[in-house]
Amino acid sequence: MTIEPAASVQGDIAVPGDKSISHRALLLGMVADGESEVDGFGVSKDTLSTVAAARALGAGVEVEGDRLRVQGVGLRGIREPAGPLDCGNAGTLMRLLPGILAGQEGRFELLGDESLSTRPMERIAEPLRAMGARVTTAEGHAPVVVEAGGLRPVRWELPVASAQVKSCVLLAGLYAEDGPTTAVEPHASRDHTERMLEAMGARVRRGPREASVWPVERLGPLRTTIPGDVSSAAPFVVAATLLAGSKLRLHGVGLNPTRTGFLDVLERMGGRIAVFNRRSAGGEPVGDLEVEAAELVATSIGAEEVPSLVDELPLFALAAGMAHGDSVVTGAQELRVKESDRVESVKDVLRPLGIHIETRHDGFRVRGVPSRPQGGGVVDARGDHRIAMLGAVAGLVSRQGIELRGAESAAVSFPDFLPMLDSLALR
Ligand code: S3P
Repeated sequence: MTIEPAASVQGDIAVPGDKSISHRALLLGMVADGESEVDGFGVSKDTLSTVAAARALGAGVEVEGDRLRVQGVGLRGIREPAGPLDCGNAGTLMRLLPGILAGQEGRFELLGDESLSTRPMERIAEPLRAMGARVTTAEGHAPVVVEAGGLRPVRWELPVASAQVKSCVLLAGLYAEDGPTTAVEPHASRDHTERMLEAMGARVRRGPREASVWPVERLGPLRTTIPGDVSSAAPFVVAATLLAGSKLRLHGVGLNPTRTGFLDVLERMGGRIAVFNRRSAGGEPVGDLEVEAAELVATSIGAEEVPSLVDELPLFALAAGMAHGDSVVTGAQELRVKESDRVESVKDVLRPLGIHIETRHDGFRVRGVPSRPQGGGVVDARGDHRIAMLGAVAGLVSRQGIELRGAESAAVSFPDFLPMLDSLALR
């Protein structure tokens, strides 16, 4: 599709519910006692894969608009499904669910689409094996097969910061007899699982880079409202920052400090982002954002900061391309094993626009030029939703627009993204 340049973006929006939290609400609601009721559920291709998996495992799931109801089967009540579970493109599903399945009776096989089937899965298989489960992968990839065993607690040191791996270990820890299971990370990652487990009555202990969970008999049902996804807000925040004269309000955005790295980095670069009406919903901080256009200066991002904006680093590269000075990202080798190799994908989107970007094994360096990039040409989303959204914003802020191939990938996390972006653009 053709992405035409915009003069500015203006308006008021609310983005769909947080994808990370939506997956967790489904998976934990599935093993709770009784009915969970959740508002603000983020409906997307990814979370619908989790709806289908929860149903196949015996839970009753109803989705009406952004309202979710889950009839839990109890902590050990999951039934073996008739066939394999299709995780589609959803890494969070494929990496969190095995933590729960390891505590059940039976054999479970998890499949993924082409992209998910290339992503590393030993990172969850290894700790589950250390806890006593039988888990196999196909040379490190999907299909992942989980067979239960009596689980024992573990203290697991993650080689890379990953909320998905940490969450898998903690979920298995709910089933591990005699004592706490601990996940230790090199840098702190998003803590939605810990917060939700606490809200459901589990005993959780947390340190700066580690979390422990104790085995439980039951989890209480969830009653919660999921905040807007800050990762889905990010493309709009960048567009408003980069297009002179823009002013945008975003209502009800999740502001969990383990997720707001991108807002912090933009502010450090000179971005004008005001937060109003700070509140809390379902144990998660929330606020309204007002973003105005600003001139940016370059900055650097290192390993410690990466987990707090890991999904926003492609958008950071675009912002850096229009800032004064050179920006560098290091310690972000995880980008290479996301839905696409995002170091290469980002380069392939931004270079044709005229942005100077050089890749490194663990990140990239961008030479900023504080004016609108030229644009023109064709870019490909490579089946990666975050790259589709990057391409759309890049086209919008360029002088000539772009031709975006594979724009429909945005539906993996945000089905209405393109119409919403278009409705805000003044041309
Ligand atoms: C997620 C964690 C991150 C993130 C992904 C969602 C989660 O992945 O990139 O989009 O919901 O826990 P990693 O745990 O692999 O860093």
